[in-house]
Amino acid sequence: MIYNCKYISGVIQQEYMSKPFNVVQFGFGSLGKSIAMAIINRSNLHLVGLIDIDPEYVGKNVEDVLSISGDTKTKIYPNLDSLLKVVKSPIDVSVIATSSSLKVVKPSIIESMRAGMNVISICEELSFPFNRHPKLSVELDSKAKELNKTVLGTGINPGYLMDLLPIVLTAPCQTVETITVTRHMNSSHRRFSFQKKIGTGMTQNEFRKNIDEGHITGHVGLVESIRMIDSALNLGLDKIEELPPEAVVADEAIANSFATIKKGNVLGLKSTGLGKKNGKTVVRLDFLAYAEADPQYDEIVIEGLPKIHQRIEGGVQGDYSTIAMILNLIPMLGSTGPGLVTMKDIPVPRNTERIFKN
Ligand SMILES: NC(=O)c1ccc[n+]([C@@H]2O[C@H](COP(=O)([O-])OP(=O)(O)OC[C@H]3O[C@@H](n4cnc5c(N)ncnc54)[C@H](OP(=O)(O)O)[C@@H]3O)[C@@H](O)[C@H]2O)c1
Repeated sequence: MIYNCKYISGVIQQEYMSKPFNVVQFGFGSLGKSIAMAIINRSNLHLVGLIDIDPEYVGKNVEDVLSISGDTKTKIYPNLDSLLKVVKSPIDVSVIATSSSLKVVKPSIIESMRAGMNVISICEELSFPFNRHPKLSVELDSKAKELNKTVLGTGINPGYLMDLLPIVLTAPCQTVETITVTRHMNSSHRRFSFQKKIGTGMTQNEFRKNIDEGHITGHVGLVESIRMIDSALNLGLDKIEELPPEAVVADEAIANSFATIKKGNVLGLKSTGLGKKNGKTVVRLDFLAYAEADPQYDEIVIEGLPKIHQRIEGGVQGDYSTIAMILNLIPMLGSTGPGLVTMKDIPVPRNTERIFKN
């Protein structure tokens, strides 16, 4: 409904009643809880329901679990079908925050699209899935196009700091020889599930065994980030590899809110991804996350003409910013063509807290 007209720079602009985007969310884990809270607090988004398989939460209200006061009551359902029996208003976007594995999130993506929603997920493998999961990527892309929906994998990393940002930083370069990105973060400031997956508090033997047997994943997504850079810049990389994560070990005992870490035990890890051409490293990504790391920074160095050296002092806090990526990308899904898209394919990402559904 038009409620006003503005005349700006010689153009009459119609203003419409502001409507929020209706959102459902899969996943009410460590990050999922914070995403739900942030959606509830954002005036341009409306959380119509949440889905989690954990019986501890099913049937409860998000606001009660999170101790949020106010009028809204958002129910937690065990699956989308049961949510759709109750929620009758059209739902614009499905947010998926359940797993790093694309195979695991695939059913939620498909059923969301079938129910008429665009899909956004922080599943790391979805950020650039075409090489790790070629068949699945084609299947998701075809289904999205058939249903005229958009599927996007986003996040801070992968999704922004170690892929999209270096890609955008090459725009003023006449030539690009190499790209090196380093994240150096204090994991004590991160959610517990993150500290757990980087091995905080383990002995060095436990760390190696848990990594080798897949009980902890370490960081997921370096290969996806390199592939996104390669695809955007057409670097022609012939070898992309992730080196086995190395434990970062405590020189002295330290304690944080997650664990007490004895001298010689694991503070966190260092992961390295390399993109090579003809034996030469063209892209190098170093991800260091460990308790009490100091100083914190995110750094990008592009050797080329001109050389670009960007350093974000203090680093970008990973949990807040992952949530922000979801919040900010929700209103942009409608302006992207249908299909399986990546962060390099969408209009310039930005803060969208003032963008409503018109
Ligand atoms: N791209 C990025 O930058 C980025 C950043 C941060 C996190 N992530 C990823 O985002 C994911 C979520 O993070 P988190 O810390 O919140 O993980 P988490 O604590 O493990 O929470 C996941 C939640 O989803 C539930 N779940 C699993 N499968 C489900 C399904 N099919 N339907 C509904 N709920 C389901 C889980 O229930 P159960 O516990 O009962 O299994 C759990 O409650 C992780 O994979 C993480 O690696 C990505």
